[in-house]
Amino acid sequence: MSLDPAFERLLPLIEADLQTALAPAHPALQPYYGMMRYHLGWLDEQFQPQPANSGKRLRPLLCLLSSEALGGDVQQALPAASALELVHNFSLVHDDIQDNSRFRRGRRAVWDVWGAAQGINVGDGLFVLARLAVHRLAERGVPLPRQQAATVALDQACLALCEGQFLDLTFEDRLDVDLEQYLWMIRHKTAALLAASTQIGALLATDDEGAVERFHRFGENLGLAFQIQDDILGVWGDERLTGKSVASDIQTKKKALPAVYALNQSHDREAAQALAALYRHEGPLDAQATRQALSIVDRVGAREYAEEMATRYYQQALESLAPIKPQAEPQAIALAELRRMAASLLGRQT
Ligand code: IPE
Ligand code: IPE
Ligand code: MG
Ligand code: MG
Repeated sequence: MSLDPAFERLLPLIEADLQTALAPAHPALQPYYGMMRYHLGWLDEQFQPQPANSGKRLRPLLCLLSSEALGGDVQQALPAASALELVHNFSLVHDDIQDNSRFRRGRRAVWDVWGAAQGINVGDGLFVLARLAVHRLAERGVPLPRQQAATVALDQACLALCEGQFLDLTFEDRLDVDLEQYLWMIRHKTAALLAASTQIGALLATDDEGAVERFHRFGENLGLAFQIQDDILGVWGDERLTGKSVASDIQTKKKALPAVYALNQSHDREAAQALAALYRHEGPLDAQATRQALSIVDRVGAREYAEEMATRYYQQALESLAPIKPQAEPQAIALAELRRMAASLLGRQT
Protein backbone atom coordinates (compact mmCIF):
# COMPACT_ATOMS: atom_id res chain seq x y z
CA MET A 1 0.00 0.00 0.00
CA SER A 2 2.86 2.37 0.75
CA LEU A 3 3.92 2.31 -2.91
CA ASP A 4 0.72 4.03 -3.92
CA PRO A 5 1.43 7.63 -5.05
CA ALA A 6 -1.52 8.93 -3.00
CA PHE A 7 0.07 7.59 0.17
CA GLU A 8 3.50 8.97 -0.66
CA ARG A 9 2.01 12.37 -1.35
CA LEU A 10 -0.49 12.63 1.51
CA LEU A 11 0.82 10.52 4.40
CA PRO A 12 3.74 12.84 5.27
CA LEU A 13 1.32 15.80 5.42
CA ILE A 14 -1.05 13.86 7.69
CA GLU A 15 1.78 12.69 10.00
CA ALA A 16 3.19 16.23 10.30
CA ASP A 17 -0.21 17.70 11.15
CA LEU A 18 -0.91 14.96 13.71
CA GLN A 19 2.51 15.56 15.29
CA THR A 20 1.60 19.22 15.79
CA ALA A 21 -1.78 18.28 17.24
CA LEU A 22 -0.10 16.01 19.82
CA ALA A 23 2.70 18.32 20.98
CA PRO A 24 3.03 18.10 24.80
CA ALA A 25 1.56 21.16 26.52
CA HIS A 26 4.00 21.22 29.49
CA PRO A 27 7.07 19.14 30.50
CA ALA A 28 5.10 17.66 33.43
CA LEU A 29 2.53 16.39 30.92
CA GLN A 30 5.06 14.65 28.66
CA PRO A 31 3.92 11.15 29.75
CA TYR A 32 0.27 11.98 29.05
CA TYR A 33 1.06 12.97 25.48
CA GLY A 34 3.62 10.15 25.46
CA MET A 35 0.82 7.59 25.91
CA MET A 36 -1.08 9.18 23.02
CA ARG A 37 2.04 9.21 20.88
CA TYR A 38 2.68 5.57 21.80
CA HIS A 39 -0.79 4.71 20.55
CA LEU A 40 -0.24 6.65 17.31
CA GLY A 41 2.84 4.47 16.69
CA TRP A 42 5.63 6.99 17.21
CA LEU A 43 7.02 6.07 20.66
CA ASP A 44 7.70 2.90 22.62
CA GLU A 45 6.55 2.14 26.18
CA GLN A 46 9.47 4.15 27.58
CA PHE A 47 8.46 7.07 25.35
CA GLN A 48 11.54 6.66 23.20
CA PRO A 49 11.10 7.29 19.47
CA GLN A 50 10.48 3.98 17.81
CA PRO A 51 8.60 3.61 14.57
CA ALA A 52 5.86 1.01 14.88
CA ASN A 53 2.70 0.06 13.03
CA SER A 54 0.73 3.27 13.26
CA GLY A 55 -2.36 2.06 11.44
CA LYS A 56 -3.50 2.69 7.92
CA ARG A 57 -4.51 6.37 8.37
CA LEU A 58 -7.48 5.41 6.25
CA ARG A 59 -9.91 8.10 7.40
CA PRO A 60 -7.63 11.12 6.80
CA LEU A 61 -6.61 9.69 3.42
CA LEU A 62 -10.27 9.27 2.44
CA CYS A 63 -10.98 12.82 3.56
CA LEU A 64 -8.12 14.41 1.63
CA LEU A 65 -8.70 12.40 -1.54
CA SER A 66 -12.44 13.15 -1.47
CA SER A 67 -11.67 16.82 -1.14
CA GLU A 68 -9.12 16.76 -3.95
CA ALA A 69 -11.49 14.82 -6.20
CA LEU A 70 -13.90 17.75 -6.01
CA GLY A 71 -11.23 20.39 -6.54
CA GLY A 72 -10.58 21.16 -2.85
CA ASP A 73 -7.28 22.24 -1.35
CA VAL A 74 -5.46 19.58 0.68
CA GLN A 75 -3.82 22.13 2.99
CA GLN A 76 -7.24 23.53 3.86
CA ALA A 77 -8.71 20.11 4.59
CA LEU A 78 -5.73 18.85 6.64
CA PRO A 79 -7.04 19.83 10.12
CA ALA A 80 -10.25 17.92 9.41
CA ALA A 81 -8.23 14.91 8.23
CA SER A 82 -6.29 14.95 11.52
CA ALA A 83 -9.50 15.33 13.49
CA LEU A 84 -10.92 12.18 11.86
CA GLU A 85 -7.79 10.17 12.67
CA LEU A 86 -7.82 11.44 16.26
CA VAL A 87 -11.48 10.47 16.72
CA HIS A 88 -10.70 7.04 15.29
CA ASN A 89 -7.80 6.61 17.72
CA PHE A 90 -9.87 7.81 20.68
CA SER A 91 -12.37 5.11 19.76
CA LEU A 92 -9.68 2.42 19.50
CA VAL A 93 -8.11 3.25 22.89
CA HIS A 94 -11.55 2.98 24.50
CA ASP A 95 -12.59 0.00 22.35
CA ASP A 96 -9.65 -2.07 23.62
CA ILE A 97 -10.80 -1.43 27.19
CA GLN A 98 -14.41 -2.19 26.28
CA ASP A 99 -13.45 -5.38 24.41
CA ASN A 100 -10.80 -6.44 26.92
CA SER A 101 -8.35 -6.62 23.99
CA ARG A 102 -4.71 -6.65 25.00
CA PHE A 103 -3.20 -6.09 21.58
CA ARG A 104 -3.52 -3.35 19.02
CA ARG A 105 -1.42 -2.98 15.88
CA GLY A 106 0.93 -5.72 17.08
CA ARG A 107 1.74 -4.04 20.41
CA ARG A 108 0.23 -3.93 23.87
CA ALA A 109 -2.90 -1.79 24.03
CA VAL A 110 -2.62 1.46 26.02
CA TRP A 111 -4.73 0.09 28.90
CA ASP A 112 -2.62 -3.06 29.08
CA VAL A 113 0.52 -0.97 29.63
CA TRP A 114 -0.80 1.90 31.79
CA GLY A 115 -4.13 0.60 33.14
CA ALA A 116 -7.75 1.26 32.23
CA ALA A 117 -7.99 4.52 34.21
CA GLN A 118 -5.19 6.13 32.21
CA GLY A 119 -6.56 4.50 29.05
CA ILE A 120 -9.90 6.24 29.52
CA ASN A 121 -8.14 9.54 30.03
CA VAL A 122 -5.90 9.04 26.99
CA GLY A 123 -8.99 8.37 24.87
CA ASP A 124 -10.73 11.44 26.24
CA GLY A 125 -7.69 13.58 25.46
CA LEU A 126 -7.58 12.30 21.87
CA PHE A 127 -11.28 13.06 21.51
CA VAL A 128 -10.85 16.67 22.64
CA LEU A 129 -7.75 17.12 20.50
CA ALA A 130 -9.87 16.02 17.54
CA ARG A 131 -12.36 18.78 18.23
CA LEU A 132 -9.57 21.33 18.64
CA ALA A 133 -8.11 20.16 15.32
CA VAL A 134 -11.37 20.74 13.48
CA HIS A 135 -11.55 24.27 14.94
CA ARG A 136 -8.21 24.91 13.20
CA LEU A 137 -10.09 24.94 9.87
CA ALA A 138 -10.72 28.61 10.64
CA GLU A 139 -6.97 29.34 10.45
CA ARG A 140 -6.86 27.82 6.95
CA GLY A 141 -9.39 30.24 5.53
CA VAL A 142 -12.27 27.75 5.29
CA PRO A 143 -15.54 29.72 5.04
CA LEU A 144 -17.60 29.64 8.25
CA PRO A 145 -20.60 27.64 6.89
CA ARG A 146 -18.24 24.89 5.73
CA GLN A 147 -16.39 24.88 9.06
CA GLN A 148 -19.69 24.51 10.85
CA ALA A 149 -20.89 21.77 8.53
CA ALA A 150 -17.62 19.86 9.06
CA THR A 151 -17.86 20.21 12.86
CA VAL A 152 -21.46 19.02 12.94
CA ALA A 153 -20.69 16.06 10.66
CA LEU A 154 -17.77 15.06 12.91
CA ASP A 155 -19.84 15.34 16.08
CA GLN A 156 -22.72 13.37 14.58
CA ALA A 157 -20.32 10.62 13.54
CA CYS A 158 -18.79 10.52 17.05
CA LEU A 159 -22.22 10.11 18.57
CA ALA A 160 -23.16 7.40 16.06
CA LEU A 161 -19.90 5.62 16.88
CA CYS A 162 -20.68 5.64 20.62
CA GLU A 163 -24.23 4.45 19.89
CA GLY A 164 -22.77 1.65 17.77
CA GLN A 165 -20.36 0.68 20.56
CA PHE A 166 -23.33 0.54 22.94
CA LEU A 167 -25.12 -1.86 20.60
CA ASP A 168 -21.97 -3.92 20.01
CA LEU A 169 -21.56 -4.41 23.77
CA THR A 170 -25.21 -5.20 24.47
CA PHE A 171 -25.20 -7.74 21.61
CA GLU A 172 -22.53 -9.80 23.43
CA ASP A 173 -25.22 -11.10 25.80
CA ARG A 174 -27.79 -11.79 23.11
CA LEU A 175 -28.41 -14.78 20.86
CA ASP A 176 -31.22 -13.24 18.81
CA VAL A 177 -29.26 -10.63 16.83
CA ASP A 178 -30.36 -10.81 13.21
CA LEU A 179 -28.69 -9.50 10.08
CA GLU A 180 -30.65 -6.26 10.07
CA GLN A 181 -29.68 -5.45 13.67
CA TYR A 182 -26.06 -6.35 12.92
CA LEU A 183 -25.98 -3.99 9.92
CA TRP A 184 -27.54 -1.23 11.98
CA MET A 185 -24.85 -1.70 14.63
CA ILE A 186 -21.89 -1.58 12.21
CA ARG A 187 -23.42 1.34 10.33
CA HIS A 188 -23.09 3.23 13.62
CA LYS A 189 -19.86 1.95 15.14
CA THR A 190 -17.76 2.00 11.95
CA ALA A 191 -19.47 3.21 8.77
CA ALA A 192 -20.52 6.56 10.27
CA LEU A 193 -16.92 7.74 10.70
CA LEU A 194 -15.86 6.58 7.23
CA ALA A 195 -18.94 8.31 5.81
CA ALA A 196 -18.01 11.47 7.73
CA SER A 197 -14.47 11.25 6.32
CA THR A 198 -15.57 11.32 2.68
CA GLN A 199 -18.46 13.71 3.40
CA ILE A 200 -16.26 16.24 5.22
CA GLY A 201 -13.62 16.05 2.50
CA ALA A 202 -16.35 16.76 -0.06
CA LEU A 203 -18.12 19.57 1.79
CA LEU A 204 -14.82 21.40 2.32
CA ALA A 205 -14.43 21.46 -1.46
CA THR A 206 -17.91 22.17 -2.79
CA ASP A 207 -21.36 23.54 -1.96
CA ASP A 208 -22.95 21.03 -4.37
CA GLU A 209 -25.15 19.07 -1.93
CA GLY A 210 -25.74 16.25 -4.40
CA ALA A 211 -22.00 15.64 -4.74
CA VAL A 212 -21.50 15.77 -0.95
CA GLU A 213 -24.30 13.24 -0.50
CA ARG A 214 -22.72 10.89 -3.05
CA PHE A 215 -19.39 11.03 -1.21
CA HIS A 216 -21.21 10.39 2.06
CA ARG A 217 -22.87 7.30 0.57
CA PHE A 218 -19.53 6.15 -0.85
CA GLY A 219 -17.92 6.33 2.62
CA GLU A 220 -20.86 4.68 4.32
CA ASN A 221 -20.98 1.68 2.00
CA LEU A 222 -17.21 1.42 2.08
CA GLY A 223 -17.44 1.47 5.89
CA LEU A 224 -19.93 -1.40 5.91
CA ALA A 225 -17.68 -3.44 3.60
CA PHE A 226 -14.72 -2.47 5.79
CA GLN A 227 -16.27 -3.67 9.05
CA ILE A 228 -17.46 -6.91 7.44
CA GLN A 229 -13.88 -7.48 6.27
CA ASP A 230 -12.72 -6.71 9.83
CA ASP A 231 -15.13 -9.37 11.09
CA ILE A 232 -13.71 -11.86 8.58
CA LEU A 233 -10.16 -11.05 9.73
CA GLY A 234 -11.34 -11.44 13.32
CA VAL A 235 -11.95 -15.15 12.67
CA TRP A 236 -9.77 -16.13 9.72
CA GLY A 237 -7.08 -13.42 9.75
CA ASP A 238 -3.38 -13.76 10.52
CA GLU A 239 -2.54 -12.30 13.93
CA ARG A 240 0.93 -11.32 12.72
CA LEU A 241 -0.67 -9.08 10.11
CA THR A 242 -3.73 -7.75 11.95
CA GLY A 243 -1.82 -7.17 15.21
CA LYS A 244 -4.96 -8.24 17.10
CA SER A 245 -5.81 -11.60 18.65
CA VAL A 246 -7.73 -13.82 16.27
CA ALA A 247 -10.81 -15.62 17.65
CA SER A 248 -11.34 -13.04 20.40
CA ASP A 249 -14.64 -11.97 18.75
CA ILE A 250 -15.82 -15.59 19.02
CA GLN A 251 -14.45 -15.98 22.52
CA THR A 252 -16.18 -12.83 23.80
CA LYS A 253 -19.45 -13.74 21.99
CA LYS A 254 -19.32 -10.67 19.76
CA LYS A 255 -22.10 -10.60 17.22
CA ALA A 256 -19.72 -10.13 14.34
CA LEU A 257 -21.04 -11.28 10.97
CA PRO A 258 -19.70 -14.88 11.03
CA ALA A 259 -21.46 -15.53 14.36
CA VAL A 260 -24.66 -13.72 13.31
CA TYR A 261 -24.77 -15.79 10.13
CA ALA A 262 -24.21 -19.07 11.98
CA LEU A 263 -26.78 -18.28 14.68
CA ASN A 264 -29.42 -17.41 12.08
CA GLN A 265 -28.66 -20.42 9.95
CA SER A 266 -31.92 -21.88 8.64
CA HIS A 267 -30.36 -24.60 6.39
CA ASP A 268 -28.43 -26.07 9.29
CA ARG A 269 -30.50 -25.62 12.44
CA GLU A 270 -28.24 -28.07 14.27
CA ALA A 271 -25.21 -25.83 13.74
CA ALA A 272 -27.14 -22.74 14.86
CA GLN A 273 -28.32 -24.51 18.00
CA ALA A 274 -24.88 -25.90 18.78
CA LEU A 275 -23.36 -22.40 18.62
CA ALA A 276 -26.20 -20.96 20.71
CA ALA A 277 -25.59 -23.67 23.31
CA LEU A 278 -21.89 -22.74 23.54
CA TYR A 279 -22.81 -19.06 23.87
CA ARG A 280 -25.35 -19.73 26.65
CA HIS A 281 -22.56 -20.49 29.12
CA GLU A 282 -21.71 -17.65 31.47
CA GLY A 283 -18.61 -15.57 30.61
CA PRO A 284 -16.11 -15.86 27.76
CA LEU A 285 -15.66 -19.20 25.96
CA ASP A 286 -12.78 -21.40 27.11
CA ALA A 287 -10.23 -22.72 24.61
CA GLN A 288 -12.18 -25.88 23.77
CA ALA A 289 -15.52 -24.08 23.32
CA THR A 290 -13.77 -21.45 21.17
CA ARG A 291 -12.40 -24.19 18.90
CA GLN A 292 -15.87 -25.74 18.63
CA ALA A 293 -17.48 -22.39 17.84
CA LEU A 294 -14.84 -21.63 15.21
CA SER A 295 -15.43 -24.97 13.58
CA ILE A 296 -19.18 -24.28 13.44
CA VAL A 297 -18.84 -20.85 11.75
CA ASP A 298 -16.33 -22.39 9.36
CA ARG A 299 -18.59 -25.34 8.51
CA VAL A 300 -21.72 -23.30 7.77
CA GLY A 301 -19.97 -21.21 5.11
CA ALA A 302 -19.97 -17.95 7.05
CA ARG A 303 -16.75 -16.83 5.42
CA GLU A 304 -18.04 -17.07 1.85
CA TYR A 305 -21.26 -15.39 2.91
CA ALA A 306 -19.40 -12.49 4.56
CA GLU A 307 -17.02 -12.11 1.64
CA GLU A 308 -19.93 -11.85 -0.79
CA MET A 309 -21.61 -9.26 1.37
CA ALA A 310 -18.42 -7.18 1.68
CA THR A 311 -18.06 -7.27 -2.11
CA ARG A 312 -21.65 -6.11 -2.54
CA TYR A 313 -21.20 -3.08 -0.28
CA TYR A 314 -17.93 -2.26 -1.95
CA GLN A 315 -19.67 -2.28 -5.35
CA GLN A 316 -22.45 -0.08 -3.98
CA ALA A 317 -19.79 2.31 -2.71
CA LEU A 318 -18.26 2.59 -6.16
CA GLU A 319 -21.67 3.10 -7.76
CA SER A 320 -22.21 6.18 -5.59
CA LEU A 321 -19.17 7.77 -7.20
CA ALA A 322 -20.09 6.83 -10.77
CA PRO A 323 -21.86 10.14 -11.58
CA ILE A 324 -18.91 12.25 -10.35
CA LYS A 325 -17.24 13.85 -13.35
CA PRO A 326 -13.83 15.36 -12.53
CA GLN A 327 -13.36 18.89 -13.82
CA ALA A 328 -9.59 18.74 -14.25
CA GLU A 329 -6.61 16.37 -14.28
CA PRO A 330 -5.68 16.57 -10.55
CA GLN A 331 -9.30 15.79 -9.65
CA ALA A 332 -9.37 12.81 -11.99
CA ILE A 333 -6.14 11.52 -10.41
CA ALA A 334 -7.56 11.88 -6.88
CA LEU A 335 -10.76 10.11 -7.88
CA ALA A 336 -8.81 7.24 -9.40
CA GLU A 337 -6.68 7.02 -6.25
CA LEU A 338 -9.80 6.98 -4.11
CA ARG A 339 -11.23 4.10 -6.13
CA ARG A 340 -7.94 2.22 -5.95
CA MET A 341 -7.76 2.70 -2.21
CA ALA A 342 -11.30 1.37 -1.81
CA ALA A 343 -10.36 -1.68 -3.90
CA SER A 344 -7.29 -2.38 -1.78
CA LEU A 345 -9.44 -2.47 1.37
CA LEU A 346 -11.64 -5.28 0.14
CA GLY A 347 -9.03 -8.00 0.29
CA ARG A 348 -7.01 -6.38 3.06
CA GLN A 349 -5.10 -8.56 5.54
CA THR A 350 -4.30 -5.81 8.07
C1 IPE B 1 -10.05 -0.77 13.10
O1 IPE B 1 -9.92 0.23 12.15
C2 IPE B 1 -11.36 -0.68 13.77
C3 IPE B 1 -12.50 -0.72 12.84
C4 IPE B 1 -13.30 0.26 12.69
C5 IPE B 1 -12.76 -1.94 12.10
P1 IPE B 1 -8.67 0.32 11.17
O2 IPE B 1 -8.43 -1.01 10.55
O3 IPE B 1 -8.87 1.48 10.26
O4 IPE B 1 -7.49 0.63 12.19
P2 IPE B 1 -6.01 1.16 11.95
O5 IPE B 1 -6.04 2.61 12.31
O6 IPE B 1 -5.62 0.93 10.52
O7 IPE B 1 -5.18 0.37 12.92
C1 IPE C 1 -14.52 -1.25 15.65
O1 IPE C 1 -14.55 -2.02 16.76
C2 IPE C 1 -15.27 0.04 15.87
C3 IPE C 1 -14.70 1.00 16.83
C4 IPE C 1 -13.53 0.87 17.40
C5 IPE C 1 -15.51 2.14 17.12
P1 IPE C 1 -14.05 -3.53 16.77
O2 IPE C 1 -13.94 -3.92 18.20
O3 IPE C 1 -14.92 -4.35 15.89
O4 IPE C 1 -12.63 -3.40 16.08
P2 IPE C 1 -11.24 -4.09 16.40
O5 IPE C 1 -11.32 -5.43 15.76
O6 IPE C 1 -11.06 -4.12 17.87
O7 IPE C 1 -10.24 -3.22 15.72
MG1 MG D 1 -12.31 -4.30 19.44
MG1 MG E 1 -15.30 -3.35 19.69
